Amino acid sequence: LGGAVYRTPGREHTPAVIMILLDEMVKRRKALLSLLPKASAFVLPGYRMQYSSQNIFYRFKQNNNVIYFTGLKEPGDAVVISYDHKWHLFRQPDTPESVLWEGAKTPDDVIKQNHLIDHVHDLQTLSGFIDDLPNDVKLYLNQSQNDCVRFEADDRTLSVDPFIHRLRVIKSEYEIEQMEQSCQIAGNVFNTLRKKLRGMETERHVENYLEAAVKTQGAEGLAYVPVVAGGPRACTIHYTRNDQKLMGNELLLVDAGCVYNDYCSDITRTLQVGKLMTAAQEKVTEAVKTIQQTVLDWLAQNWKHHTLLDLQSVAYHQTVRELKGLGVDPKHVDTLFPHAIGHYLGMDLHDCPTVGMSAKLKPGMIITIEPGLYFTDSLDYPEEYRGIGVRVEDDVLITESGPRVLTENAEV
Ligand code: GLY
Ligand code: MN
Ligand code: MN
Repeated sequence: LGGAVYRTPGREHTPAVIMILLDEMVKRRKALLSLLPKASAFVLPGYRMQYSSQNIFYRFKQNNNVIYFTGLKEPGDAVVISYDHKWHLFRQPDTPESVLWEGAKTPDDVIKQNHLIDHVHDLQTLSGFIDDLPNDVKLYLNQSQNDCVRFEADDRTLSVDPFIHRLRVIKSEYEIEQMEQSCQIAGNVFNTLRKKLRGMETERHVENYLEAAVKTQGAEGLAYVPVVAGGPRACTIHYTRNDQKLMGNELLLVDAGCVYNDYCSDITRTLQVGKLMTAAQEKVTEAVKTIQQTVLDWLAQNWKHHTLLDLQSVAYHQTVRELKGLGVDPKHVDTLFPHAIGHYLGMDLHDCPTVGMSAKLKPGMIITIEPGLYFTDSLDYPEEYRGIGVRVEDDVLITESGPRVLTENAEV
């Protein structure tokens, strides 16, 4: 449509869809305000559009913190400030050109009503608004490289992220429902992929299938660029070229998840492309499954007073045992299992990073458990294992009565 005079239908007819319940939004805001000191304001810059070139834009992705507290998903103008418990939204006003090309923005009165915003302002007035705050007010900022506005941090600015992450790491009932659905969809898609894999010729087919299948089942799309790694490519942890031929005698490591109502799932299975596995492929696969089961069993017994870091240690020691069983020198453990056993999962894939791995596990947290072994083509390892990479990953909700695997439906 570049350059053509084209009338886009006004977006005033399609006010932003609210995905979160209003009472949920109110609870989240109250919880945040109760954590922050009284004399404070906080700023959540919405993201701006991202471009692949010139004016060719990617599909817009809003800052999840903005979604979490307001449900707002329009680009470039969603800067929210809370001060004196009032919520202010600073927006770029419509121009004749923006209305012509992008359509009109959701009207202010709809924003106020549907997103519980007290006051709407022009984005240009934001810095004046902040300058006018009393001197003793601490400014809590949530900053990232995609922000639609930048602030110079000074001695009265602090990061709001640790406060937000403390809330977001514990999922509400509503959030758990979204996570269950996200995991269910991704698990179903892995199961159908298993059945259809024999008819697929390349890693690209698999990636395309994953994307189409999660969308067909109601997800927004994949949660991240999936890893579809045949044979030795599985040993490259962030392999995403996904463009090679599938071979019947190789394993295929698939790490994929979807986004459903803003919540991510994250699953890995290492699939068999052909009818038979070699003895070495089977041994490595069984070792990784055993490590995962050991961590899950330990978690069931010990979650109450422990942390992700403790799970890392359990995984490490079991990996050492498995390596010995495989006849591999365990001094290579850190190279063969070089990543974390898991992370928090939620609206972001690597959710709430400021909470850290040494926080006590609590009901409402969702974590991944993802052990792996990656035998590159190195003389350090017995020849039979070289070129075999295996990971298995599941998503686990901590409940009062112990861990519950949300991705249980995905066959192992
Ligand atoms: N898919 C990235 C991860 O498992 O953390
Ligand atoms: Mn993961
Ligand atoms: Mn993953």
